[in-house]
Amino acid sequence: MTTEGRAGWPKVTRVPAELRRLLDVDRAQGKTVGFVPTMGALHEGHLALVRHARSIADVAVVSIFVNPTQFGPQEDLARYPRNLDGDLKLLATVPTDHVLAPSVDSVYPEGHATTVHVAGLTDGLCGPLRPGHFDGVATVVAKLFSMVGPCKAVFGRKDFQQLQVIRRMTADLDLPVEVLGRPTIREPDGLAMSSRNRYLSPADRERAGALVEGLRAAATAFAAGERRPAELERLVRDRLAGRVDRIDYVFVGDPETLHPYPGAIPAGCAALAAIAAFVGPTRLIDNAELGAENP
Ligand code: PAJ
Repeated sequence: MTTEGRAGWPKVTRVPAELRRLLDVDRAQGKTVGFVPTMGALHEGHLALVRHARSIADVAVVSIFVNPTQFGPQEDLARYPRNLDGDLKLLATVPTDHVLAPSVDSVYPEGHATTVHVAGLTDGLCGPLRPGHFDGVATVVAKLFSMVGPCKAVFGRKDFQQLQVIRRMTADLDLPVEVLGRPTIREPDGLAMSSRNRYLSPADRERAGALVEGLRAAATAFAAGERRPAELERLVRDRLAGRVDRIDYVFVGDPETLHPYPGAIPAGCAALAAIAAFVGPTRLIDNAELGAENP
């Protein structure tokens, strides 16, 4: 079942096999496919990914699927913002060729029994704090890649650990997908755009600025030559103190393995500074790649 939608709006497909057929026709004609997986509640950060996908491929595909398997029992699955019409309106401005908006049953039919687990990269950061989260992400992204077929898939570096997990998964499963990471899009004051920012009260929104301030402090110290991870972490924690309600982690370590450096950050190496913290009831994450060429 394909909904043609309103004039100028992307074509919405609810049945994955239907989209695959359409894209196979495109590919047979020599067209390339750019793919941006999302959970909807779209904002400028998502749209920047779609624009990039369209600039590097002939056909832009966006999936909108609030994936239940990546939410923990205490997390916000039920209240995760859903607004397909609003999302389509935004995507029409980019523009987007196809939107895949499958039902939960078509992604996880009864009897579904396969989970993709990426070891190592999920040991730290959000991994232990959100048990099963990255299994849910890796599983659904592997499935979405199969539904879309050979493509260039574009992800945000804001979810840095997710990006590394998906890169590993794609390589390990020999999927015919090129995974690309794009910079974080921020509000004018620096807050990383996120679907969850809409949960922030005005007072919490102000306090949320502490995350980017912490990352800036670490970036400034790194640029001035500071290479001790503990010192860089301390600078970040100092900025968070008294502003956020709970720190899940502050991490400064190896951006490739996501493990801490055993000692000082080696000369010539970049470092990932990453934060997860609660502001009111809202869990926010952000990161900066210190010393990276294209952060
Ligand atoms: P979602 O949170 O909707 O994010 C979809 C994509 O948008 C991800 O690649 C994310 O990193 C990117 N993104 C979010 N905010 C961004 C920002 N401020 N700047 C740049 N990119 C940004 O991430 C997910 O959905 C899901 O886990 C998914 C991969 C779709 C699997 O369900």
